Parts: sequence; C-alpha cells; structure tokens
Amino acid sequence: MVRLLTPRRLAALVLAALTLAAAGASPALAGDALKGKQVFSQQCSTCHAAAKGAAPILGPTLWGVVGRPTATLPGFAYSKAMKGAGGVWDEARLRTYLPGPQKLIPGIRMTYPGLKNPAQLDDLIAYLKTLK
Ligand code: HEC
Repeated sequence: MVRLLTPRRLAALVLAALTLAAAGASPALAGDALKGKQVFSQQCSTCHAAAKGAAPILGPTLWGVVGRPTATLPGFAYSKAMKGAGGVWDEARLRTYLPGPQKLIPGIRMTYPGLKNPAQLDDLIAYLKTLK
C-alpha cells in the first residue's frame, strides 16, 4: 500500500491551497496578479489609471472595476454605446470583453484590438480584482 499523505505531500498540498487562496480564484482560472500588473502597464495604462481616485486618462479609471456596473465612473464622459450596454463588470464579462471589446459592445470608443493570450487574460483579471 502506498501512503497517500506523507508529510512532504501534505506540505505540498497545503502550499498549493494557499497559493490558490492568495490568487482568490478557482483552480482552473488562477491568474497571477503580479504578472497581470505588467500586462496592465503594457496594454492598458496608456489609457487607464488604476489607482483609487486617480483622474481618468483616455478611458475611465479602473480602480474597483470588478463588480462595477458599466459606464458608472462619476464624471467620465462615456460613449452612447457604452452607456447603453448595461450589465456589471464581473469576471465572466471581462473575460468576454477584453479579447475583443468592439465585438462585445460595438461602437464604443475603446480603440483597443483585444487581449488574445488566455494566460495573460487570466493574469490581468487576477490583477484587476486586486484594485479594491
Ligand atoms: C486606446 C485607449 C485604451 C486602451 C489601450 C484600453 N482602453 Fe479600456 N477604455 C478606453 C475608453 C476610451 C473607454 C470608454 C469607452 C466608451 O465610453 O465608449 C474604455 C472603457 C473600458 C472599460 C469599461 C469601464 C466602465 O467604467 O464601464 C473597461 C473595463 C476597460 N476599458 C478595460 C480595459 C483594459 C483592462 C485594458 C487593457 C487590456 C484597456 N481597457 C485598454 C480606452 C482604452
């Protein structure tokens, strides 16, 4: 009989569980928020600030965006298309939106072609979730 839970194995399991808990994601979608921060600075930060209370750049500030209803950052002049989109920026919607923003909501002013790399998308969403 093989002993299933040797102390080493148990330690590895505990470590894996802690890592997942820290990422705050389900096992299948666990992104790395630190890597996501890099993706954000390369792909989003030209147009979006991330800090609490920061002034919008070209796009609305994304502090607290996960869980925020669409087009509701006070004082930002959203397009008609974005205002009419409705819904909330939850994780599932960001996952559909970010690979092709104009596909999900035609006519918006976010002229970003989309983030196609699934691993980068996981990391980016993990990072966006930390902005609260
Ligand atoms: C070229 C500039 C630009 C880039 C790059 C860009 N965005 Fe945007 N984004 C915008 C603009 C402008 C809007 C507002 C669109 C509108 O009102 O039609 C917007 C809107 C959004 C919204 C909706 C927010 C709300 O308050 O409803 C989200 C979410 C978002 N962007 C995420 C991202 C992420 C994440 C990235 C990086 C992968 C990114 N954007 C890259 C310009 C950009």
